[in-house]
Amino acid sequence: MDQNNTVTERRQTMIMFKNVSKVYGNGVTAINNLNMRIFKDEFVFLMGASGAGKSTLIKLLMKEEEPTDGRIFVNNRDLSQIKKGSVQRYRRQIGVVFQDYRLLENKTVFGNVAFAMEIMGKSRKDIHEKVGAALSLMGLSKKADEFPRNLSGGEQQRAALARAIVNSPRILIADEPTGNLDPANAEQIMYLLDLINSQHTTVIVATHAQEMARGMGRRILYLDHGEKNEDLSSAGSASHGATRKADDRKESGLFTEENLLFGKGGDDGE
Ligand SMILES: Nc1ncnc2c1ncn2[C@@H]1O[C@H](COP(=O)(O)OP(=O)(O)OP(=O)(O)O)[C@@H](O)[C@H]1O
Ligand SMILES: [Mg+2]
Repeated sequence: MDQNNTVTERRQTMIMFKNVSKVYGNGVTAINNLNMRIFKDEFVFLMGASGAGKSTLIKLLMKEEEPTDGRIFVNNRDLSQIKKGSVQRYRRQIGVVFQDYRLLENKTVFGNVAFAMEIMGKSRKDIHEKVGAALSLMGLSKKADEFPRNLSGGEQQRAALARAIVNSPRILIADEPTGNLDPANAEQIMYLLDLINSQHTTVIVATHAQEMARGMGRRILYLDHGEKNEDLSSAGSASHGATRKADDRKESGLFTEENLLFGKGGDDGE
Protein backbone atom coordinates (compact mmCIF):
# COMPACT_ATOMS: atom_id res chain seq x y z
CA MET A 1 0.00 0.00 0.00
CA ASP A 2 1.31 3.39 -0.82
CA GLN A 3 2.01 5.84 1.90
CA ASN A 4 -0.39 8.62 1.31
CA ASN A 5 -3.32 6.37 1.71
CA THR A 6 -4.47 6.54 -1.84
CA VAL A 7 -6.02 3.28 -2.68
CA THR A 8 -4.91 2.31 -6.09
CA GLU A 9 -6.44 -1.09 -6.53
CA ARG A 10 -10.15 -1.54 -6.85
CA ARG A 11 -11.63 -2.67 -3.63
CA GLN A 12 -13.85 -5.62 -3.43
CA THR A 13 -17.01 -5.44 -1.43
CA MET A 14 -17.30 -7.91 1.40
CA ILE A 15 -20.56 -6.80 3.00
CA MET A 16 -23.40 -4.77 1.55
CA PHE A 17 -26.66 -3.70 3.16
CA LYS A 18 -29.29 -2.43 0.74
CA ASN A 19 -32.26 -0.65 2.22
CA VAL A 20 -32.23 -2.95 5.20
CA SER A 21 -34.79 -2.58 7.97
CA LYS A 22 -35.38 -4.71 11.00
CA VAL A 23 -38.54 -4.39 13.01
CA TYR A 24 -38.76 -6.83 15.89
CA GLY A 25 -41.94 -8.65 16.78
CA ASN A 26 -42.68 -6.15 19.54
CA GLY A 27 -42.77 -3.33 17.01
CA VAL A 28 -39.33 -1.90 17.83
CA THR A 29 -37.52 -0.65 14.76
CA ALA A 30 -33.91 -1.61 15.41
CA ILE A 31 -32.66 -0.74 11.93
CA ASN A 32 -34.37 1.53 9.50
CA ASN A 33 -33.51 1.57 5.82
CA LEU A 34 -29.80 1.08 6.19
CA ASN A 35 -27.40 1.21 3.28
CA MET A 36 -23.74 0.50 3.76
CA ARG A 37 -20.79 -1.26 2.33
CA ILE A 38 -17.74 -2.78 3.96
CA PHE A 39 -14.77 -3.76 1.85
CA LYS A 40 -12.72 -6.88 1.80
CA ASP A 41 -9.88 -6.75 4.34
CA GLU A 42 -11.23 -3.55 5.80
CA PHE A 43 -11.26 -2.77 9.52
CA VAL A 44 -14.28 -0.74 10.54
CA PHE A 45 -15.77 0.44 13.76
CA LEU A 46 -19.48 0.39 14.19
CA MET A 47 -20.55 3.06 16.60
CA GLY A 48 -23.84 4.27 17.93
CA ALA A 49 -25.67 4.81 21.18
CA SER A 50 -26.99 1.92 23.19
CA GLY A 51 -29.99 0.57 21.31
CA ALA A 52 -28.83 2.02 18.00
CA GLY A 53 -28.95 -1.40 16.40
CA LYS A 54 -25.34 -2.56 16.44
CA SER A 55 -26.00 -6.01 17.81
CA THR A 56 -29.02 -6.33 15.57
CA LEU A 57 -26.84 -5.59 12.56
CA ILE A 58 -24.48 -8.34 13.68
CA LYS A 59 -27.37 -10.78 14.14
CA LEU A 60 -28.58 -10.00 10.65
CA LEU A 61 -25.11 -10.69 9.30
CA MET A 62 -25.04 -14.00 11.11
CA LYS A 63 -28.50 -14.85 9.89
CA GLU A 64 -29.65 -15.14 13.48
CA GLU A 65 -32.31 -12.63 12.55
CA GLU A 66 -33.91 -11.92 9.19
CA PRO A 67 -34.40 -8.40 7.88
CA THR A 68 -37.95 -7.16 7.65
CA ASP A 69 -37.01 -5.38 4.48
CA GLY A 70 -34.05 -4.98 2.16
CA ARG A 71 -31.22 -7.24 1.20
CA ILE A 72 -27.86 -8.18 2.66
CA PHE A 73 -24.96 -9.45 0.61
CA VAL A 74 -21.87 -11.09 2.03
CA ASN A 75 -19.10 -11.90 -0.35
CA ASN A 76 -21.57 -11.31 -3.19
CA ARG A 77 -24.03 -13.75 -1.74
CA ASP A 78 -27.59 -12.69 -1.04
CA LEU A 79 -28.25 -13.92 2.48
CA SER A 80 -31.94 -14.36 1.81
CA GLN A 81 -31.03 -17.03 -0.73
CA ILE A 82 -29.18 -19.20 1.76
CA LYS A 83 -31.26 -22.21 2.63
CA LYS A 84 -31.71 -23.36 6.21
CA GLY A 85 -29.49 -26.37 5.70
CA SER A 86 -26.63 -24.16 4.54
CA VAL A 87 -26.74 -21.55 7.28
CA GLN A 88 -24.18 -23.29 9.47
CA ARG A 89 -21.78 -23.52 6.59
CA TYR A 90 -22.32 -19.87 5.78
CA ARG A 91 -21.63 -18.89 9.40
CA ARG A 92 -18.31 -20.64 9.38
CA GLN A 93 -16.79 -17.91 7.30
CA ILE A 94 -17.63 -15.43 10.03
CA GLY A 95 -15.97 -15.42 13.43
CA VAL A 96 -17.92 -13.63 16.14
CA VAL A 97 -16.99 -12.43 19.56
CA PHE A 98 -20.24 -11.76 21.35
CA GLN A 99 -20.87 -8.91 23.72
CA ASP A 100 -21.08 -11.42 26.58
CA TYR A 101 -18.33 -13.78 25.28
CA ARG A 102 -20.57 -16.87 25.37
CA LEU A 103 -17.77 -19.16 26.46
CA LEU A 104 -18.85 -22.63 27.51
CA GLU A 105 -18.31 -22.89 31.25
CA ASN A 106 -17.87 -26.64 31.35
CA LYS A 107 -15.13 -26.62 28.75
CA THR A 108 -11.53 -25.55 29.11
CA VAL A 109 -10.10 -22.72 27.07
CA PHE A 110 -8.75 -25.31 24.66
CA GLY A 111 -12.11 -27.06 24.56
CA ASN A 112 -13.92 -23.83 23.84
CA VAL A 113 -11.67 -22.95 20.96
CA ALA A 114 -11.69 -26.52 19.63
CA PHE A 115 -15.44 -27.01 19.92
CA ALA A 116 -16.54 -25.85 16.49
CA MET A 117 -13.78 -27.82 14.80
CA GLU A 118 -14.78 -30.94 16.71
CA ILE A 119 -18.35 -30.56 15.52
CA MET A 120 -17.08 -30.19 11.99
CA GLY A 121 -15.30 -33.50 12.39
CA LYS A 122 -11.79 -32.14 11.94
CA SER A 123 -8.90 -34.42 12.76
CA ARG A 124 -7.24 -34.31 16.18
CA LYS A 125 -4.03 -33.22 14.55
CA ASP A 126 -5.69 -30.39 12.69
CA ILE A 127 -7.51 -29.30 15.84
CA HIS A 128 -4.36 -29.31 17.94
CA GLU A 129 -2.42 -27.36 15.38
CA LYS A 130 -5.03 -24.71 14.75
CA VAL A 131 -6.20 -24.31 18.33
CA GLY A 132 -2.59 -24.18 19.49
CA ALA A 133 -1.83 -21.48 16.96
CA ALA A 134 -4.90 -19.42 17.86
CA LEU A 135 -4.16 -19.63 21.59
CA SER A 136 -0.56 -18.75 20.99
CA LEU A 137 -1.53 -15.73 18.91
CA MET A 138 -3.81 -14.60 21.73
CA GLY A 139 -1.14 -15.18 24.35
CA LEU A 140 -3.18 -17.89 26.04
CA SER A 141 -1.07 -21.00 25.57
CA LYS A 142 -0.54 -21.29 29.30
CA LYS A 143 -4.24 -21.03 29.99
CA ALA A 144 -5.31 -23.78 27.61
CA ASP A 145 -6.41 -26.11 30.40
CA GLU A 146 -8.15 -23.53 32.55
CA PHE A 147 -11.88 -23.10 32.68
CA PRO A 148 -13.36 -19.74 31.73
CA ARG A 149 -14.34 -18.92 35.33
CA ASN A 150 -10.65 -18.90 36.25
CA LEU A 151 -9.76 -16.32 33.65
CA SER A 152 -9.62 -12.57 33.94
CA GLY A 153 -11.95 -10.51 31.78
CA GLY A 154 -9.20 -9.75 29.31
CA GLU A 155 -8.26 -13.41 29.09
CA GLN A 156 -11.85 -14.41 28.51
CA GLN A 157 -12.08 -11.86 25.77
CA ARG A 158 -8.93 -13.25 24.19
CA ALA A 159 -10.26 -16.80 24.52
CA ALA A 160 -13.41 -15.72 22.71
CA LEU A 161 -11.22 -14.10 20.06
CA ALA A 162 -9.16 -17.28 19.69
CA ARG A 163 -12.35 -19.23 19.19
CA ALA A 164 -13.58 -16.75 16.62
CA ILE A 165 -10.44 -16.92 14.50
CA VAL A 166 -9.46 -20.55 14.82
CA ASN A 167 -10.97 -21.41 11.45
CA SER A 168 -9.47 -18.46 9.62
CA PRO A 169 -12.76 -16.70 8.95
CA ARG A 170 -13.06 -14.16 6.18
CA ILE A 171 -14.86 -11.83 8.53
CA LEU A 172 -14.38 -11.24 12.22
CA ILE A 173 -17.04 -9.41 14.16
CA ALA A 174 -16.43 -8.27 17.70
CA ASP A 175 -19.35 -6.81 19.62
CA GLU A 176 -18.06 -4.37 22.22
CA PRO A 177 -14.83 -6.29 22.74
CA THR A 178 -13.35 -3.83 25.17
CA GLY A 179 -16.48 -2.92 27.10
CA ASN A 180 -15.46 -4.66 30.30
CA LEU A 181 -11.73 -4.18 30.09
CA ASP A 182 -9.28 -1.76 31.62
CA PRO A 183 -7.35 0.49 29.22
CA ALA A 184 -4.28 -1.75 29.04
CA ASN A 185 -6.33 -4.83 28.19
CA ALA A 186 -8.48 -2.88 25.79
CA GLU A 187 -5.40 -1.71 23.97
CA GLN A 188 -4.11 -5.25 23.76
CA ILE A 189 -7.38 -6.46 22.27
CA MET A 190 -7.23 -3.67 19.70
CA TYR A 191 -3.70 -4.66 18.83
CA LEU A 192 -4.80 -8.25 18.33
CA LEU A 193 -7.76 -7.25 16.18
CA ASP A 194 -5.39 -5.21 14.07
CA LEU A 195 -3.10 -8.20 13.75
CA ILE A 196 -5.98 -10.43 12.67
CA ASN A 197 -7.01 -7.81 10.15
CA SER A 198 -3.52 -7.73 8.71
CA GLN A 199 -3.92 -11.42 7.93
CA HIS A 200 -6.64 -10.70 5.40
CA THR A 201 -9.64 -10.84 7.65
CA THR A 202 -12.30 -8.19 7.37
CA VAL A 203 -12.83 -6.89 10.90
CA ILE A 204 -15.93 -5.19 12.27
CA VAL A 205 -15.88 -3.88 15.80
CA ALA A 206 -19.01 -2.57 17.48
CA THR A 207 -18.09 -0.22 20.28
CA HIS A 208 -19.07 2.75 22.39
CA ALA A 209 -15.45 3.69 22.92
CA GLN A 210 -15.14 6.82 20.79
CA GLU A 211 -11.64 7.76 21.79
CA MET A 212 -10.27 4.34 21.20
CA ALA A 213 -11.96 3.96 17.84
CA ARG A 214 -10.69 7.31 16.67
CA GLY A 215 -7.22 6.52 17.88
CA MET A 216 -7.10 3.53 15.58
CA GLY A 217 -7.46 5.68 12.48
CA ARG A 218 -9.90 3.34 10.82
CA ARG A 219 -13.21 4.00 9.19
CA ILE A 220 -16.02 4.57 11.63
CA LEU A 221 -19.61 3.78 10.69
CA TYR A 222 -22.12 5.63 12.78
CA LEU A 223 -25.32 3.77 13.28
CA ASP A 224 -28.53 5.29 14.49
CA HIS A 225 -31.27 2.79 13.99
CA GLY A 226 -33.91 5.42 13.85
CA GLU A 227 -35.65 7.24 11.12
CA LYS A 228 -32.66 9.40 10.37
CA ASN A 229 -30.44 6.65 9.32
CA GLU A 230 -30.52 6.40 5.60
CA ASP A 231 -26.93 5.33 5.35
CA LEU A 232 -23.73 5.06 7.23
CA SER A 233 -20.67 7.11 6.82
CA SER A 234 -17.86 6.20 4.57
CA ALA A 235 -14.79 7.85 5.82
CA GLY A 236 -12.19 7.12 3.26
CA SER A 237 -9.35 5.00 4.32
CA ALA A 238 -10.18 1.41 4.59
CA SER A 239 -7.00 -0.37 3.93
CA HIS A 240 -3.94 -1.29 5.83
CA GLY A 241 -1.51 1.38 6.59
CA ALA A 242 -4.30 3.86 6.81
CA THR A 243 -3.07 6.94 8.48
CA ARG A 244 -5.98 9.23 8.14
CA LYS A 245 -7.70 9.80 11.40
CA ALA A 246 -11.38 9.33 11.60
CA ASP A 247 -11.73 12.47 13.65
CA ASP A 248 -10.54 14.51 10.72
CA ARG A 249 -14.09 14.15 9.73
CA LYS A 250 -17.14 15.82 10.97
CA GLU A 251 -19.38 13.38 12.63
CA SER A 252 -22.25 15.40 13.77
CA GLY A 253 -25.40 14.35 12.06
CA LEU A 254 -24.44 10.77 11.57
CA PHE A 255 -22.94 10.75 8.15
CA THR A 256 -19.60 11.76 6.93
CA GLU A 257 -19.96 10.13 3.60
CA GLU A 258 -17.68 11.44 0.93
CA ASN A 259 -17.86 8.55 -1.41
CA LEU A 260 -19.84 5.33 -1.35
CA LEU A 261 -22.39 3.88 -1.48
CA PHE A 262 -23.60 1.99 -4.45
CA GLY A 263 -22.55 2.10 -7.99
CA LYS A 264 -19.34 3.88 -7.25
CA GLY A 265 -16.90 1.19 -8.03
CA GLY A 266 -14.28 0.45 -5.52
CA ASP A 267 -12.02 3.38 -5.44
CA ASP A 268 -11.56 5.62 -2.61
CA GLY A 269 -12.37 8.86 -4.23
CA GLU A 270 -9.79 10.82 -2.36
N1 LIG B 1 -34.95 -9.73 20.26
C1 LIG B 1 -35.44 -8.49 20.33
N2 LIG B 1 -36.78 -8.27 20.39
C2 LIG B 1 -37.26 -7.03 20.46
N3 LIG B 1 -36.52 -5.91 20.46
C3 LIG B 1 -35.20 -6.06 20.40
C4 LIG B 1 -34.58 -7.34 20.34
N4 LIG B 1 -33.24 -7.17 20.28
C5 LIG B 1 -33.04 -5.86 20.31
N5 LIG B 1 -34.20 -5.17 20.38
C6 LIG B 1 -34.37 -3.72 20.38
O1 LIG B 1 -33.80 -3.21 19.18
C7 LIG B 1 -33.08 -2.01 19.43
C8 LIG B 1 -31.64 -2.20 18.99
O2 LIG B 1 -31.01 -3.13 19.86
P1 LIG B 1 -29.51 -3.62 19.69
O3 LIG B 1 -29.28 -4.69 20.68
O4 LIG B 1 -29.28 -3.93 18.27
O5 LIG B 1 -28.73 -2.29 20.08
P2 LIG B 1 -27.15 -2.04 20.30
O6 LIG B 1 -26.79 -0.91 19.43
O7 LIG B 1 -26.41 -3.30 20.14
O8 LIG B 1 -27.12 -1.56 21.82
P3 LIG B 1 -25.94 -1.76 22.93
O9 LIG B 1 -24.91 -0.73 22.60
O10 LIG B 1 -26.65 -1.45 24.21
O11 LIG B 1 -25.45 -3.15 22.85
C9 LIG B 1 -33.26 -1.70 20.89
O12 LIG B 1 -34.34 -0.81 21.02
C10 LIG B 1 -33.61 -3.05 21.49
O13 LIG B 1 -34.40 -2.90 22.64
MG1 LIG C 1 -25.26 -4.47 21.47
